Amino acid sequence: MSPGDRPVRPGDPVRPAPRNSGSLLVDNIGELVTNDTGGEGGPLGIRRDAAVLVEDGQVAWIGPARYAPAADRRIDAEGAAVLPGFVDSHAHLVFAGDRAAEFAARMAGEPYTGGGIRTTVGATRAASDDQLRDTVRRLRDEAMRQGTTTIEIKSGYGLTVADEARSLRVAAEFTEDTTFLGAHVVPAEYADRPDEYVGLVCGPMLAAAAPYARWIDVFCERGAFDVDHARAILACGQAAGLGVRVHANQLGPGPGVQLGVELGAASVDHCTHLTDADVDALASTGTTWVSGFEPTTVATLLPGAEFSTRSPYPDARRLLDAGAAVALATDCNPGSSYTSSMPFCVALAVREMRMTPAEAVWAATAGGAAALRRDDVGRLARGARADLMILDAPSHLHLAYRPGVPLIRQVLHNGVPQCRP
Ligand code: NIG
Ligand code: FE
Repeated sequence: MSPGDRPVRPGDPVRPAPRNSGSLLVDNIGELVTNDTGGEGGPLGIRRDAAVLVEDGQVAWIGPARYAPAADRRIDAEGAAVLPGFVDSHAHLVFAGDRAAEFAARMAGEPYTGGGIRTTVGATRAASDDQLRDTVRRLRDEAMRQGTTTIEIKSGYGLTVADEARSLRVAAEFTEDTTFLGAHVVPAEYADRPDEYVGLVCGPMLAAAAPYARWIDVFCERGAFDVDHARAILACGQAAGLGVRVHANQLGPGPGVQLGVELGAASVDHCTHLTDADVDALASTGTTWVSGFEPTTVATLLPGAEFSTRSPYPDARRLLDAGAAVALATDCNPGSSYTSSMPFCVALAVREMRMTPAEAVWAATAGGAAALRRDDVGRLARGARADLMILDAPSHLHLAYRPGVPLIRQVLHNGVPQCRP
C-alpha cells in the first residue's frame, strides 16, 4: 500500500477532496445549449434559467434552476450561457518546429502547396519523445482554455515506422481519438518510389501504428496520394479495425470526397472544392449520425486553413442546404492552420461561410462528435460526459459577434473545473 492509500489516522493533515469528487451543480444558467433536438429549444436545444447536476464525471440531471437538487459544490453561472465543450475533430498536434516564415511568404503572395509538410517531418524526426509530448500538451491545454474538451490528434509528421508509432503513442496519452496519417505525403527518401511507400504504410507502419490508433486518414490530393493509393491504404486500415477519415478536396477538385463516401468514412475533411456530385454524395449519407447506425459521412470544414493559406472558404451554405452533416474543426498544424481556437473557427464560419451562429455552434460541438462517431460528447443530456463551458456572455451568439475576445470563463472536463475553482 502506498502512503497515499493508507487509512487516514488522527493527526494526519487534512487533504482537500479531489476536485471531481461528490456532486457539482452549475446553476443560474441564462442560456443552456444542450444540442438535444428531441424537445423544444430549436436546433441547439436551448433551455433558459437552467441548472446542470454533475456526478462521477457525467451529467446526472438537467432542468429548471428552481428545481435543482442539492449538491456538494456549486458553480454560479451568473446568468451566462453554458454550452457543451467544443469537439475539435481534426488536429495535427504531434510535430516539432514552426513554419512562420512560410506563412509570411504566403501573405506576400506565395501559394500553399503542402510542400512544407516535409520541413516539419525533418524537425519531428529530430525531436525527442519529450519534446513532442510537451508540444502536444501545450496545444491541448491552449485548446482547453478556449473550450475544447475533445480533440482528435493525428500522426503524419514522422513517416517512418518508428516515428509514426511514437507519434501515435504520444497522442494516445492525450486523447482517445488518435488517427494514423502515415499517408500524409510521400517522404523525400521515397519520392521516386511511391508504390513502395504505400506498401510500407499498409504493412509494417500500419502494424506498428494500429495499437495506438482509432482512425486512419489519407491526404488524397494532387502532390500527395492519388485515389488508387488512397483507397488501398484506407482499405488496409479498415481491415485492421480502424475507422476511416479522409483529407479531401482541399487544394482543388478531386476524387477524395467520393472515395470517403464509398468507404463509409466518418468524415471527409476540408471539402473546399466540391462538385454538385460531391455535395449530393455527402447529402445522401444523411444529416445525423446516430450511434449504432453508421452511414453518415460528415463534411468537416476547416476555415483556419483557408484563413492561413488565403484561399477561398468552403461553401458551407451549399452543403447545409443540400442536407449534408457539417462539422467545424481547427486543423491545428504548423503549416496550413496554426490555431487551436474553435471560437475563431466559429466566427470565420459565420462571417465568411454563411453559416448561422446556431449552425456553427452545432457544427463545432455535436457536428464534431458525429464526425468522431461519438454520442457521449458534443451534447448535454443525462449520461453524457460532463464537458461544458461557461461563457463570459449571455448567449452563444457572442462567439461570432465578439470575435477574438476571450469569452470562455470556465471549462468543465469530465466534470472537473479546469480554469478556476
Ligand atoms: O490538413 N493538407 C494536409 N495536411 C495539413 C497541412 C499540413 C502542413 O502543411 O503541415 C492540412 O491542412
Ligand atoms: Fe489536416
